[in-house]
Amino acid sequence: APPQYAFPGAAAACARTAWKPENTNVYLKCGGIFAGMTSIVSQIKVCLKMALDAGVHLVLPTIPLRDSTDLTNFNFFNGSANMDFDRWFDEAHLRDAMARACPQLKIRKIADFQGLGDASTELAAAAAAAAESGEKMAVAHEWNFDINTAPGLKLLAGYFWVGRPFRTWFEHELLRERFLSHSTPKTPAAAAAPGATIINIVSQFLVFRITDDATGRELALWNDLSAMVRFNEATRAITTKVEARIDQPYIGVHFRVEKDNIWSSYDDQLKQDLDALDKLWTRYGGAGSGAAKENKQQQQQQQGAHGLKKPLVYLACGDEEQIKGFEAAAALRGWNVTSKYDIVKNDAETLRQLKELPFDFQGAVDLGIMLKSWFFVGITGSAFSSTVANLRDSTGRYRGSSLQFPDDDHARTHLFNDGDAAAYACCL
Ligand SMILES: *[C@@H]1O[C@H](CO)[C@@H](O)[C@H](O)[C@H]1NC(C)=O
Ligand SMILES: *[C@@H]1O[C@H](CO)[C@@H](O)[C@H](O)[C@H]1NC(C)=O
Repeated sequence: APPQYAFPGAAAACARTAWKPENTNVYLKCGGIFAGMTSIVSQIKVCLKMALDAGVHLVLPTIPLRDSTDLTNFNFFNGSANMDFDRWFDEAHLRDAMARACPQLKIRKIADFQGLGDASTELAAAAAAAAESGEKMAVAHEWNFDINTAPGLKLLAGYFWVGRPFRTWFEHELLRERFLSHSTPKTPAAAAAPGATIINIVSQFLVFRITDDATGRELALWNDLSAMVRFNEATRAITTKVEARIDQPYIGVHFRVEKDNIWSSYDDQLKQDLDALDKLWTRYGGAGSGAAKENKQQQQQQQGAHGLKKPLVYLACGDEEQIKGFEAAAALRGWNVTSKYDIVKNDAETLRQLKELPFDFQGAVDLGIMLKSWFFVGITGSAFSSTVANLRDSTGRYRGSSLQFPDDDHARTHLFNDGDAAAYACCL
């Protein structure tokens, strides 16, 4: 159980929002959430922020799990790959956090509504069970809001910001739909009549320009939303078991060379990673550095007081063949490389649990280990690397390379400019 954090950024955002009586039964049902694990988390945050900004409620989204073998198959149009929110994330944690930060915002599930369809058989079964128990809410309207109608929108480039609030566009759409359906509420009481209004909307990746807010309030909200979305206990437990077996300071490297690689080639990434390791060892590895101090007792046992031992390198990578290649090349430069598979190789039970996880959930294990690393090396073009870099920084955003700006408040992070995603800095 996490400490009872008050989520002040989210609470302040909630207090700034007008929760209008005529929107009492309006629920956002976010769709279009897919891709890699950290992109999905970012889109969940977009969904939560849309509801908070607009002062409406939330139907928890379903999310397709990508194919763990063919990583380019995101199963976007594959209903049977859809999984309910609680199969991805800790739903109780989100509900508990939101109840404290913003009790006005109601959270329901698809199965709580009558006739709210979904292609997944699992969800259909849950809906049928809820129908039997007679606790379902009627749906008065189901409307689709298309974010592409927002004037001047360019996808994946950041759009809504404090100078162009989501709420303004949303209220305009809502007013029009109500007018078209001749149900413009005359009084708040009439609007709050039984029956929900479901708004289907795409949770558009990178649509909010979080950092274009001089007050920092958007970022405070965004960082709180990061803390509301966490993985389920099974995934977290495996992360903890892997982490507990690392008995020394380590450098985390995100080696993004799996079969869906759209970034630099294997050879380029390998060379730049090894060069960075050597560079940061020259910078930080000297006597008196943090790594040297933390490592001291071990060195004394293993090598005597005068020999410095290079820290372990933990590779975040989902492809065991590629890990072996990196390991061999790194050994030539005196680096000892490990991975999640290697660390638990003598713990058959944990290894089995790890290998049974889908690719993206294995990525969640790596995410946890990267957060705890003494230094992190990744690439700007990857949402995973960029998310780790943001989470390691006390501001919640990557402030630039520690190799260039050593005054980093212990973020200890370096991202290579590789396939730069222009909107990650503002909007991820
Ligand atoms: C759809 O998803 C299911 C469940 O993940 C999977 O077994 C099936 O192969 C997928 N179908 C296609 C066409 O990818
Ligand atoms: C590399 O690190 C692993 C894990 O800490 C350790 O078991 C192994 O002995 C190390 N190998 C070398 C050559 O230092």
